[in-house]
Amino acid sequence: MTVLASTADVLRRSNVFGGGQPSGHPLVHGFGCSQGGAMHEVEELPVRLRKETADLHLEVEAATGLPGSIRTRAEYVTLLHCLHRFHQAAESRLADSKWAEQWAEVGIDLSQHRRAYLLEQDLVAVQAQASREAPDFFDIADFPGAMGCLYVVEGSSLGGRVIGPAIRSAIGDVPTRFFESAERNHPSPWRSLKDALLRFGSSGDTGAVVEGARSTFRAFERHLATPRRGLVR
Ligand code: HEM
Repeated sequence: MTVLASTADVLRRSNVFGGGQPSGHPLVHGFGCSQGGAMHEVEELPVRLRKETADLHLEVEAATGLPGSIRTRAEYVTLLHCLHRFHQAAESRLADSKWAEQWAEVGIDLSQHRRAYLLEQDLVAVQAQASREAPDFFDIADFPGAMGCLYVVEGSSLGGRVIGPAIRSAIGDVPTRFFESAERNHPSPWRSLKDALLRFGSSGDTGAVVEGARSTFRAFERHLATPRRGLVR
């Protein structure tokens, strides 16, 4: 309970979904209209994504109940398996060779955004066997959809930095390389992603990026059941 309250505090303090201004980036492009004095504002893509997926972020938080839903080591191992399958699937879809050139154009090096290997290391450390197959349970329609998917996959690492320590303090010393991602040089991968979104947002189909992010959140929610059902689906 204490842990969940502090997570909500972090969300409030970081102003993640309240429309706060992300550091280093202007919130909006303003286009002045001298005729009527009205100002038409177009939100930057990272701000739009945050606002237009906030409802689904709340839903996945409620559906998984993390970190409070993990009360035993066995539940933690089940969670690692579920997350591994999700990240493996997402990473293999994102790495589709048909988008290689477009990733380079927006300045994304996908190897910087991979985290399934951290789940594999955590699974090995708890003497569990990680599945080698990348499950095929969600699809990505096009490159903007892939950018939306990467936004969700990378964004989830931000919450992980809160979840990892909370799980350790609840159930004791378990490996949390995936959640804490210490070796990933935080916040550099998140910043590169936001820069790429800004670059893409100046000319690309931003609505399709938002749609891709929303369908990735839904895929995540479908994949992870509620904590009361044991986090397995
Ligand atoms: C279930 C427990 C979760 C908690 C407690 C949580 C918490 C947080 C927190 C505290 C942040 C802001 C971090 C910061 O600004 O430094 C954040 C951001 C984010 N989280 Fe989560 N998260 C959770 C799950 C997830 C999941 C499962 C996903 C995706 C599948 C996700 C996607 C995101 C995204 C995309 C952002 C970035 C929002 C933005 O600034 O645009 N989160 N989360």
